[in-house]
Amino acid sequence: MEILQRGGVVALPTETVYGLAANAEDELAVRRVFAIKGRPATHPLIVHLAGVEALPDWASYIPEQARRLAEAFWPGPLTLVLPRTPRATDAVTGGQDTVALRVPSHPVALAVLRALGGGLAAPSANRFGRVSPTTAEHVRQDLGSEVDLILDGGPCTVGVESTIVDLSSGPPTILRPGGLAAEELERVLGCPVPVRTASTVRVSGSLASHYAPRVGVVLVEPSEAIPRAEALRSQGLRVGVLGPVNLTLPRDLPRFDIPEDPAGAARLLYLRLREADEAGLDMLIACLPPAQGLGMAVRDRLARAAAPRPPEA
Ligand code: TXA
Ligand code: MG
Repeated sequence: MEILQRGGVVALPTETVYGLAANAEDELAVRRVFAIKGRPATHPLIVHLAGVEALPDWASYIPEQARRLAEAFWPGPLTLVLPRTPRATDAVTGGQDTVALRVPSHPVALAVLRALGGGLAAPSANRFGRVSPTTAEHVRQDLGSEVDLILDGGPCTVGVESTIVDLSSGPPTILRPGGLAAEELERVLGCPVPVRTASTVRVSGSLASHYAPRVGVVLVEPSEAIPRAEALRSQGLRVGVLGPVNLTLPRDLPRFDIPEDPAGAARLLYLRLREADEAGLDMLIACLPPAQGLGMAVRDRLARAAAPRPPEA
């Protein structure tokens, strides 16, 4: 706590992924977060709050739909984009007139937020463009020596980042599919909540090559996994398959199993991508889960992992 009050940077667990946290009102500390991550300063951060009662401190206008979502899903894997108050500085918002807000449900994150009594600006605790950490050990591997403290709260239970919903103007839209299913939002709001693809706001997670492991990734429907793997192997490539546990594969094909249910798949996705990296493969064949529930977030992250990358990313 003192570390944060003094302007330090602390990696802490949330239910989605580990975050790299700084006092959101301390511009120098926030700038250090950008520097450690290697993230462009124009990419805004999410401000984490201890509870829904802090919302008016940070959001200048709270539409009825925002209030309903906050009451239904906070603490939890939902981020709301709303018009900001002056408390949300340019350092946090990247100069935009909106701010992204969320109340995490992990007990360690909540305890830190309650003790601090303010907001914590926290992006995922990975280097820019890489796979987000879902254990304290992943944070140590990525950023270990550069952060002032790493709080270990065990493996993240959700495993993919929060769902970001823009309520700053017009009807609600999803800026990033994540740990809260669109169906859940629609159930509470009683209207469709579409995913916005071409966005005028800057969401770094919307860059095509975000969330990339080092290994090359090819997306397939599960029935295509074996033929694609064999074709690549016949070219002399080292190939592995990321797919559901019940997928039948040749014994000699390295496999990276994720549960069949979408929530289970989301929980283990980033761990498996890291393991595939460590296995020294040339190519990972990734089976797409069904496009429903948290399957949407898993498909989104796999599509980004498979997207073409800038040469030095
Ligand atoms: O689950 C999560 O959301 C995790 C944990 C640590 O809370 N955090 C996370 O932060 O994923 P980060 O910085 O990796 O991603 C935050 C996303 C970025 O894509 C950013 O562009 C977007 O939120 N964002 C932040 N402020 C925004 C704003 N005012 N308008 C639109 N998008 C915004
Ligand atoms: Mg991130």
